[in-house]
Amino acid sequence: MAGLNGKAPYQSRRTFAIISHPDAGKTTLTEKLLLSGGAIRAAGQVRARGERRRARSDWMKIEQERGISVSSSVMTFERKGIVYNLLDTPGHEDFSEDTYRTLTAVDAAIMVIDAAKGIETQTRKLFEVCRLRDIPIITFVNKIDREGRHALEILDEVQEALALDVSPQTWPVGMGSDFFGVYDWQQKKFHTSEGERGGAYAETRDVSGLEDEILTATVFDRIMDELTENVELGAEGYAEFDRESFLEGHLTPVFFGSALRDYGIEEVLDFIAAFAPPPHSQPATGGRTIMPEEDKVTGFVFKVQANMDPKHRDRIAFVRLCSGTFKRGMKLKHVRANKQIAVSAPIFFFAEEREIADLAYPGDVIGVPNHGQLRVGDTLTEGENIHVTGLPAFAPEILRRVRLSDTMRVKQMRQGLQDLAEEGLVQIFKPDLGSNWIVGVVGALQLDVVVDRLKAEYGTEIGFEAVPYNTARWIETDSQTLQKMIEAHRMSIANDRDDKPVFLFKNAWEVGHVTEKFPDVTFRETREIVYEA
Ligand code: G4P
Repeated sequence: MAGLNGKAPYQSRRTFAIISHPDAGKTTLTEKLLLSGGAIRAAGQVRARGERRRARSDWMKIEQERGISVSSSVMTFERKGIVYNLLDTPGHEDFSEDTYRTLTAVDAAIMVIDAAKGIETQTRKLFEVCRLRDIPIITFVNKIDREGRHALEILDEVQEALALDVSPQTWPVGMGSDFFGVYDWQQKKFHTSEGERGGAYAETRDVSGLEDEILTATVFDRIMDELTENVELGAEGYAEFDRESFLEGHLTPVFFGSALRDYGIEEVLDFIAAFAPPPHSQPATGGRTIMPEEDKVTGFVFKVQANMDPKHRDRIAFVRLCSGTFKRGMKLKHVRANKQIAVSAPIFFFAEEREIADLAYPGDVIGVPNHGQLRVGDTLTEGENIHVTGLPAFAPEILRRVRLSDTMRVKQMRQGLQDLAEEGLVQIFKPDLGSNWIVGVVGALQLDVVVDRLKAEYGTEIGFEAVPYNTARWIETDSQTLQKMIEAHRMSIANDRDDKPVFLFKNAWEVGHVTEKFPDVTFRETREIVYEA
């Protein structure tokens, strides 16, 4: 289906996430990107169907009370003919698998770095996930309106710490109290404030180069000298932008900016429009590769969120479309369950609103309300029996035994945990010995959410106890070896929610020891969520 400019609509989609360490400025940048998008609604794609305001639930209350976003969401906006789908990843220090999985649904990411702090732990973790998937990264060095590290030092750090080629696109013109703006040396533009130095971005001025009077007449000599040196060293010492290398995830373009003062926002959006990839192909079972230009609709669930009314246990499955043109009311095959579902009330997500989605294209994310049928990793098709592959489940870093206050409620507790596991919030392990389930999470915050939700939605109060294990690995081996392992290490063997065997380890030493003892066994840190077609 051709769009206005003769291109298929999916080619104008840019689906991306922002990754950063808490406090680097992700929220501020997100807001500024949305503002720059002006209208937050994709014209012609949606039709407002009255105000579908949802009741606030306990679930949202947790988010509110803690002033964090526990769950990721999607923000769509349109600017200069490009539809941007920004998938939010929780910015809290303590994050969950949601964050990782959200990255399976994007085609590019902006990495925000605080100019004073450089690469921090969470940025690095999230970066590694992007690298695993070869997601192209755009680097935004934020807060240059404050005293920060030297631009060259930051570039070197990104290059060395992340083993990436860096290609500076803009340079700071001074920092902190000497901040004059941003110089775009490729386009020869000077982004600056009006009047007083260090003010918010007000205008972009074309300049002939670094000798231009527009620069030399306003910027202190010493800052000009430094800028000239940076640009010269930058031209020699860093990579020229190469799109292929960027798309393969080997090179990152770097923008210096200030989200707070509006520097760098337009440049990053223009860059994404010009160079970030439109929706990519998606691998699926049976060696199949789903191409965005295919006629038939396919999509996969990368996240499930409990919806707003805990009593009804309704859920929103976030579906990333991979191919075809989705139309409201379509019947899609839920491949795992081998059932047709009529998608009659799909939702588009805007900053603060939800609207019914009448039409959606590859790269778009629609919310599909359901009562728990749809799980993370599920595939929807127009009939084909395939499953999208590549969605990881991660080895938990925190394991706890579940303690139930009222033993009469075992059934409800198990149902609740099973549901939450299917949502992807928590992993459950059923020990080979003993009846108390063990839960595993990647971040401690998830444990609080499990307690709150079991209480609110399943009327069940639980607590957690320490266990002697601190990590788990999925076991892959033949049944004979598995049997031998079970005999030797019965206490440490459990089954996950899909009855896949797992080894619970006490510490890193034990991982090494057992791995050596059983050379025919593969111990996996991640398990790909793949349902048999
Ligand atoms: P996060 O989502 O990555 O956690 O960061 P967030 O945007 O909340 O920003 C963290 C703090 O950094 C905020 O200050 C914010 O105002 C500030 N900030 C973000 N971008 C810039 C920038 O470009 N320049 C400067 N100077 N500051 C920036 P705060 O004091 O924690 O909050 P607030 O009270 O100012 O809102």
